[in-house]
Amino acid sequence: MNEQFLNDVIIGLSAKTKKLDSKYFYDDEGDRLFQKIMHSEEYYLTDCEHEIFQEKSAALSDLFMEQLQAFELLELGAGDASKTSSLLKVLVEKQANFTYMPIDISGSMISYLEENLPTKMPGLQVSGLNGEYFPMLEKANTISERKKAVLFLGGNIGNMDPDDALAFCKQLHASLNTGDYLLMGFDLRKNPHAIFNAYNDKAGYTKAFNINLLRRMNTELGADFDLLQFEHYNSYDPVSGACRSFLISLVHQEVKIAGQIFSFEANEVVDMEISQKYSLEEIYDIGNQTNFEVVETFFDSKKWFLDILWKVA
Ligand code: AVJ
Repeated sequence: MNEQFLNDVIIGLSAKTKKLDSKYFYDDEGDRLFQKIMHSEEYYLTDCEHEIFQEKSAALSDLFMEQLQAFELLELGAGDASKTSSLLKVLVEKQANFTYMPIDISGSMISYLEENLPTKMPGLQVSGLNGEYFPMLEKANTISERKKAVLFLGGNIGNMDPDDALAFCKQLHASLNTGDYLLMGFDLRKNPHAIFNAYNDKAGYTKAFNINLLRRMNTELGADFDLLQFEHYNSYDPVSGACRSFLISLVHQEVKIAGQIFSFEANEVVDMEISQKYSLEEIYDIGNQTNFEVVETFFDSKKWFLDILWKVA
């Protein structure tokens, strides 16, 4: 049994407003559902960032090569590295002197990348780090003296509320050295309908993605959630930029998890996920407060998404 998972669930469901951590969405079924979300009509983030990497990889490679010469290219939460592939391809073509170091908590993902990327891109050096972001960044610092370029893409920063995002950037700054680079992907504020719909797809993948966490607790923690007695509800507040997902208990019900009983009122809310949206100003503000200097901004053609290149000052 995953003790950390159980602990987090018990703490979250004991809180005044029940809460589950969206980092637990991603078991095998969650990965599959997230793929479906990414390919859905409404979910624009992936397409936007794909476009950025297709269009701007050459410029980004030139920048890295000129500024860093030899470097480690680290990626936090690399997944299948689908976006990064276009950048890696260009870097290999330009014979950049670098090693790709994907960091991921999924050991199978890391093995997959180490085996497959060099066959797809002969000459590419891949050295994966299997673990949590900050311990692995520290490990990278001990095994290499070279400059670092860190990628944190996909708008994953959005899954932290703004205070946590700021603290996370501070911690990243502390884990890097002066002159290192950070490329971070932010989903931008835009027409509220577009944002709302991206988290409320007609096919129902986002709903299934949320409900899947209940199913995961049933299989991994021996819980007895009735998956039909919860519905998905999402909201977007264009004032704060917070896009949120909830599950709502449809009836008064009790759920047993590892011997503990949790009571849900009818219409009680479980806070599942935040996907924070940022203005350009708010992003610059984060950089200013954490001592990252803007080097370049890479937008998609609609200006819906931003990959900002920061330098550690
Ligand atoms: C993987 C964090 C970027 O918040 O947009 C997609 C996850 N959740 N639909 C996001 C997600 C619901 C996604 N990120």
